[in-house]
Amino acid sequence: MRRICVINQKGGVGKTTTTVNLGAGLAAEGKKVLLIDLDPQGNISHCLKVEPQKDAYSLIIENAHWKECIVNVAKNLDVMPGRETLTKAEIILAGEQFRETVLRRRLEDIRGYDYIIVDCPPSLGLLNQNAMLFANEAFVPVSTDPLGMVGLKKMENAVRVIEKVFDHNIRMTKVIPSMYDRRNKICKETLAELQNDYYELVSNPIRINSKLKEAPKKKASIFEYDKASRGAKDYRELVRFVIYEEPKYSVPDTPDQLPGGIKAFKEVLA
Ligand SMILES: Nc1ncnc2c1ncn2[C@@H]1O[C@H](COP(=O)(O)OP(=O)(O)OP(=O)(O)O)[C@@H](O)[C@H]1O
Ligand SMILES: [Mg+2]
Repeated sequence: MRRICVINQKGGVGKTTTTVNLGAGLAAEGKKVLLIDLDPQGNISHCLKVEPQKDAYSLIIENAHWKECIVNVAKNLDVMPGRETLTKAEIILAGEQFRETVLRRRLEDIRGYDYIIVDCPPSLGLLNQNAMLFANEAFVPVSTDPLGMVGLKKMENAVRVIEKVFDHNIRMTKVIPSMYDRRNKICKETLAELQNDYYELVSNPIRINSKLKEAPKKKASIFEYDKASRGAKDYRELVRFVIYEEPKYSVPDTPDQLPGGIKAFKEVLA
């Protein structure tokens, strides 16, 4: 099993688009996939056909069993939706002991998936700390511009802090250059800089493609919406790369030890 959070505190860099299309592409390749929406914007429900039901809030705050909060949306593809109530969840969590590991504890006995992919909100708040302490891998979509690079360095640091402070096994295993336009000089320069600094962690770039913007209107993945588009081609390549690396990153889905000696994440980051 691989537990991946798609994360970047910077907004609008393609986290949700990547979660949805990577998930759909992996499912089409026969992998059993669960997508978890931890973003109060609830964008996964806007991108895929998800009927209203129990969601990530029910799991985290109301103690619902994970099986009750999951809906099947396509062959091999399940979703745990998120909604604006997750904003309230963050406030409630703030008053709890061991608040950073609630998601991990609620999903302790989750089995049967090859991939669990968490779509994170653009922040470094408690929900994202929970996502990182559930996941073993962070995939970071990065817009191919100078501000994207700044966001990436911050994310890299945040992942290191989580690893160190909570003694948790998480690594940044993929940097995904997004919003790439090869006619644009700054995009090309930023991609070269990413490849120079992060070597094999860098995936193929995801080019700007209006089809990726349009697909959510039909509640479809890019492969259902326009399988011949550049967006579909780029995400297909990413899916292949991710599957190729399975032997390197896949871990047994047995429960692991919860970390002890938890300190407040924010204090350490400060
Ligand atoms: N490669 C692309 N080409 C064109 N548009 C894209 C591409 N990737 C994403 N988009 C569009 O850009 C917008 C932001 O993308 P997305 O919602 O995936 O980012 P995000 O990082 O999840 O945002 P947030 O931080 O708000 O959660 C959306 O309208 C999406 O359809
Ligand atoms: Mg998003």
